Amino acid sequence: MARPAPFAYRADQLHCEGVSLEALATELGTPLYVYSRGELEGAYRAFDAALTGLPHLICYSVKACSSLGVLSVLAKLGAGADIVSGGELLRWQRAGGDPAKVVFSGVGKTEDEMRAALAAGIHAFNVESAEELTVLDAVARAAGKRARVALRVNPDVDPETHPYISTGLKQNKFGVAMDEARALFRTAAGLAGIEVIGVDCHIGSQLTKTSPFTDAIARLVALVQQLASDGIAISHVDIGGGLGIDYGKGDAPPPSPAEYGVAVRAALAPLTALGVTLVCEPGRVIVGQAGALLARVLYRKRSEAKHFTIVDAAMNDLMRPALYGSFHPIWPAHGADRPTIVTDVVGPICETGDFFARDRALPELARGELVCIGATGAYGAVMASNYNTRPRAPEVLVDGDKYTVLRPRETYDQLLAGERLP
Ligand code: LLP
Repeated sequence: MARPAPFAYRADQLHCEGVSLEALATELGTPLYVYSRGELEGAYRAFDAALTGLPHLICYSVKACSSLGVLSVLAKLGAGADIVSGGELLRWQRAGGDPAKVVFSGVGKTEDEMRAALAAGIHAFNVESAEELTVLDAVARAAGKRARVALRVNPDVDPETHPYISTGLKQNKFGVAMDEARALFRTAAGLAGIEVIGVDCHIGSQLTKTSPFTDAIARLVALVQQLASDGIAISHVDIGGGLGIDYGKGDAPPPSPAEYGVAVRAALAPLTALGVTLVCEPGRVIVGQAGALLARVLYRKRSEAKHFTIVDAAMNDLMRPALYGSFHPIWPAHGADRPTIVTDVVGPICETGDFFARDRALPELARGELVCIGATGAYGAVMASNYNTRPRAPEVLVDGDKYTVLRPRETYDQLLAGERLP
């Protein structure tokens, strides 16, 4: 059964679960990130249920939304974590996450980060190059440990997504080429500081079909079978993250987690007898629909060519439209039932790329009105910056008719702390 939408109108007032967004914005100011605990938990459970029957570990991709509060909710549900830095490892541990369920991805891990992850006892390093393997071996031996490793291969499949978030093509910087992988596994198997346990790939993000996943898995399956004939036993297959969400643009919706689960299960079937564990690294599909960015309308104006609605959130709060031209739904917090107007919703930053919507038909908004920019739980707050010396927006977690401020609004003193005059 479909979950109830986390953001819905009640008596013409937009709510997150049981909390009125106008009440939240009046209390905490705007811009403001709001997350629904119910949606977060529901999305995690749906993904987990989709993999029922397959031995699996869900390593939530921390980069999608790394607030300690969000991580703690997921850790309590039994999630593991996909991290890409020492900072993300620290966050996961501070949030009460289990380091034994962590996989460490990324093309550029430093030796310090490797040492910290070894000391924490993470589940596996997703190693992306021969040189990284050599360094990890040395770091592990110096620490008197063996690093568990999955080699990330580049399956060279087209994920058919935005070029900036496509990672599994041979021209991308990620992973080891398929035709070099087998030899590198043999090398790895002979290193005293390395224990080879898995193969890994991640082909891209916001995928809207299952076929790129199943094509990539087919290549991993063939590799695992070759490795078995080389005497290298693989116990875990990590297929990365990447399942897309519906941003409401009107395109065909991406496969549901259940459909994804069916496709993944079929593609992995040849390995059932080998007893491998499936590792997944979902980010967006867990947290994307759980979050929204609230902003207030500052001004309206009409130029010769266009109508603009200027709000108090900007590209420093939500970079996705500027960076990828991404679409996000925009809803007025008070009833949408009124005449529409075609407008560009823009922020106050001095760049033409500072927009949230272009030529969008929206209910005509008044100065001071609250708007909600939807599907911004993933890659929203985490990608915020202080550009234009704008303090970062607070983050709030709603649970039923209560809420917790996960992070208060950054103050100017915090923003300037640490800076020195020459
Ligand atoms: N695993 C690895 C190795 C990754 O690089 C990523 C995302 C994930 C898992 C999680 O992918 P997801 O399930 O969230 O698609 N900032 C961009 C997305 C960048 C994705 C980077 N890697 C955006 O706003 O669309």
